[in-house]
Amino acid sequence: MDALSTRVREAKNNKEVVSIAYVGNIVDVWEKFEQEGIFVELGSDQTSLHNPWAGGYYPVGQSFEESNRMMAEEPELFHEKVQATLRRHAAAVNAHSARGTYFFDYGNAFLLEASRAGAEIMANNGIDFKYPSYVQDILGPMCFDYGFGPFRWVCASGNPEDLQKTDAIACQVLEEMMLRSPEEIQQQMADNIQWIKGAQQNKLVVGSQARILYADAEGRMLIAEAFNKAIERGDIGPIILGRDHHDVSGTDSPYRETSNIYDGSRFTADMAIQNVIGDSFRGATWVSIHNGGGVGWGEVINGGFGMLLDGTTEADRRLKMMLHWDVNNGIARRSWARNEGAVFAIKRAMEVEPRLKVTSQWFRLICK
Ligand SMILES: NC(=O)c1ccc[n+]([C@@H]2O[C@H](COP(=O)([O-])OP(=O)(O)OC[C@H]3O[C@@H](n4cnc5c(N)ncnc54)[C@H](O)[C@@H]3O)[C@@H](O)[C@H]2O)c1
Repeated sequence: MDALSTRVREAKNNKEVVSIAYVGNIVDVWEKFEQEGIFVELGSDQTSLHNPWAGGYYPVGQSFEESNRMMAEEPELFHEKVQATLRRHAAAVNAHSARGTYFFDYGNAFLLEASRAGAEIMANNGIDFKYPSYVQDILGPMCFDYGFGPFRWVCASGNPEDLQKTDAIACQVLEEMMLRSPEEIQQQMADNIQWIKGAQQNKLVVGSQARILYADAEGRMLIAEAFNKAIERGDIGPIILGRDHHDVSGTDSPYRETSNIYDGSRFTADMAIQNVIGDSFRGATWVSIHNGGGVGWGEVINGGFGMLLDGTTEADRRLKMMLHWDVNNGIARRSWARNEGAVFAIKRAMEVEPRLKVTSQWFRLICK
């Protein structure tokens, strides 16, 4: 622990850009840094607190082996130790935060489990947490509200050359789109282009020839359309489209994906269901509804889809119908919650597709 704090001070003094790994309990680190006055600019927690009682979070002050034994033989005592650790963990974070650390929830249920453990983590209104989730402050307003989310595809051929070609197609589509993109989404477009340009070089593929790329509704549709044409020409084999559950639509997760929806509806579980029903009628090859994605069983409902592109006219028709719904369904929900980016995005979507009508008295007023 002393070696860690010495190394961190050295790195700070030298303004080094360096990643340091410490094998041990995170609570010890927060507390040590507090005692030694080491300022933490940005903090979060990445333990597996969606699964606190079966190894996702280890109590402080005892060995890994002892924790594993206790988990199996004395689960109630283990439960108590986890909750006591969470209270200490939150207290240490609070002390840092009082000195100016920006702390955010990473979507691992840290704040939720800390609150259940009775930690000092609630805001004054007794409903919200003291700290934002990264979706509330960053990802929601910058990406989800505008329809940007993790679009995915898999090359059914398993051929790395197909993936290379699809990367190039996707990049070209985004670069063309960026030339006419409104200012509000220029930064997101630039980030996504940078990502896809570096994807091959960074060797992100470990199994299936698959890619993930943030894109908005228009981007997803245009990329998929270009893939389908390339398949028709015989340039590449069939492609299966999908997306992560951590997206604009399809997931109702009040402590993560929908945490920046402030009209009260984030505690409902209907968007995921509407999403898969809409996707299935609009041509998805399969849909799935599942529970627990990322934040734990009972805390979230996820809807997902898969769509096979085989180069046919029928696939072209389906991809446009389905992807349009898959994203705009969530933007509509976000616009009803008055999220600024979503109001902008849904107005734009209605201009591009006049058959899309998003009902809202409030929305009609501001559109005038
Ligand atoms: N925000 C996102 O986009 C996003 C994406 C993926 C995962 N997640 C969430 O983040 C969490 C972590 O995901 P992961 O895939 O890295 O999980 P993981 O289980 O692979 O890693 C968690 C690590 O935390 C360690 N750990 C547990 N308690 C600890 C403690 N007290 N001190 C120090 N280390 C401790 C575990 O030993 C493990 O190595 C999960 O809850 C997951 O749902 C969020």
